[in-house]
Amino acid sequence: MTVSRPAACAALLAGLLAVGTGAAAADPDEGHRLRGWTIATQLCSPCHVIGRVPQAGDAMGPSFVRIANMPSTTGLALNVFLQSHHQRMPSLRLDRDEMDAVIDYILSLKEAEAIRP
Ligand code: HEC
Repeated sequence: MTVSRPAACAALLAGLLAVGTGAAAADPDEGHRLRGWTIATQLCSPCHVIGRVPQAGDAMGPSFVRIANMPSTTGLALNVFLQSHHQRMPSLRLDRDEMDAVIDYILSLKEAEAIRP
């Protein structure tokens, strides 16, 4: 039985990847955003609605869609925000790449560009 296990895992993983990245799997940007979405799910979703659909729990921060569509939101502004201290939002320790991925994901929510993980 142990012999077939890696094969089964690989098949499962391939299936998950295909579902997760959809038709745009060949686009590296899409993978980066997806990583950002994964990080946001883990770190930001307790306080922010991170996608386009309503989410359980009480969001105490603005939704990411709202943030993305504020005129003041740019990659640079998000960078500065995430590296500074805030009063009501805790400082989150993300490494450079995690931060880039999350920012990429948030910016992807602008208008109609969103991915649907
Ligand atoms: C413990 C709750 C909490 C967590 C976790 C959290 N936030 Fe926030 N966030 C807030 C609150 C509250 C605000 C509103 C800040 C304010 O008005 O001072 C906020 C505001 C923001 C804003 C600024 C919007 C603006 O007005 O410019 C951004 C961007 C943001 N959060 C991104 C994130 C990201 C990305 C993560 C995850 C990596 C995250 N937040 C995790 C509570 C949280």
